[in-house]
Amino acid sequence: MFLKNIKLKNFRNYSEVNFSFNKNKTLFTGKNAQGKTNLLEAVFYLAMLNSNRIKKDIELVKFDKDMAYISASVEKQGVNIDLDIVINPPKNKILKVNGIKKSKHKDFVRVLSVVNFSSSDLMLLRGEPSDRRKWLDLAITQVYPKYTDNLAKFNKIRLQKANYLSNFGINPDMLDVFNSQLAIASSNIVYLRLKFLEEIKSIASEKHKCISEFENLDIKYESAVIKELIPIDKMTELFLDVLNQNKEKEIIRQTCLVGPHRDDICFLINNLDARKYASQGQQRTIVLALKLSELDIISNKTGDNPLLLLDDVLAELDDKRQNFLLKSIKGEIQTIITSVDTFFFDKEFLSDVEIVNIENGEIIK
Ligand SMILES: Nc1ncnc2c1ncn2[C@@H]1O[C@H](COP(=O)(O)OP(=O)(O)OP(=O)(O)O)[C@@H](O)[C@H]1O
Ligand SMILES: [Mg+2]
Repeated sequence: MFLKNIKLKNFRNYSEVNFSFNKNKTLFTGKNAQGKTNLLEAVFYLAMLNSNRIKKDIELVKFDKDMAYISASVEKQGVNIDLDIVINPPKNKILKVNGIKKSKHKDFVRVLSVVNFSSSDLMLLRGEPSDRRKWLDLAITQVYPKYTDNLAKFNKIRLQKANYLSNFGINPDMLDVFNSQLAIASSNIVYLRLKFLEEIKSIASEKHKCISEFENLDIKYESAVIKELIPIDKMTELFLDVLNQNKEKEIIRQTCLVGPHRDDICFLINNLDARKYASQGQQRTIVLALKLSELDIISNKTGDNPLLLLDDVLAELDDKRQNFLLKSIKGEIQTIITSVDTFFFDKEFLSDVEIVNIENGEIIK
């Protein structure tokens, strides 16, 4: 997969920009607050129709403008695909693949795959459970596009139920209707989360061992309901049981107490919870292993290499981890890197990298 070209109009601090990628590796340099992360965000948005920095699409539209445009040409297995997005809040965004409108997100997000690795990811283990769930959910979306629908369905029912619980005069029959829908929606999510974690665990623990030598990485899903990967219909039954057991409590507390929205992911190094005990370096090794494993999983599942976006991350890694990362991305993986300076990169690596400057929302070749 190769992102050949990207055009932005009124996106974040870009008025109008048109950039063609000439090499497999591109390094965007520039001072702080010039638009480096914004550019990577646009590429990420093309792949995921989401961004880990935004709550609402309006934030992507340039101040004082109404609409933002992102267009791109992608070469995928020898075929050229044009992507167009018009972000026009509060209206729905307009999505086109090769000029044809797509109403379903999953028909759009299938085209471009990316793995994004930014300095904020290095805080994944120190962050909140919601940060870890977001990482996992976005990673799953890349290999199971229909997972986006699963999440949307679950969130819709959960919000409806939460609204209902916050009102007086609860009808137990109505709660049963919500719970049976939630049991199905929850198991659709947890099943794929556990499946994906099994896959990533086996790859990441190998990579982790290459960097850390003697340490053993394990990953566990923490849920009050589901302890292991079991058939999906069994999961639904378990969810229904626990939802029924919690009916009274949920009515008193007026909130949804059971479901994948309360789960977490536990990383263990030599059986110790890395969220609590790992050093900063150990945490970075875990995240690096996870990100490189995401690349492998997407390549294996889709038969095509995803793009790798490295936002300011190399400066945060020591020599050993930096070398491991750069060695792993040699070859065909198109990599878009941002950094304040070229200082952190070794000469050999830079010899095959196109270096481009970004200044105040303009790309200067
Ligand atoms: N919707 C928007 N409209 C206009 N400008 C915006 C919008 N959203 C963000 N910006 C501005 O874009 C600028 C560049 O942000 P960006 O995060 O891309 O910087 P950066 O080059 O990655 O900097 P750093 O090196 O500090 O990470 C910021 O100053 C921010 O205020
Ligand atoms: Mg930045």
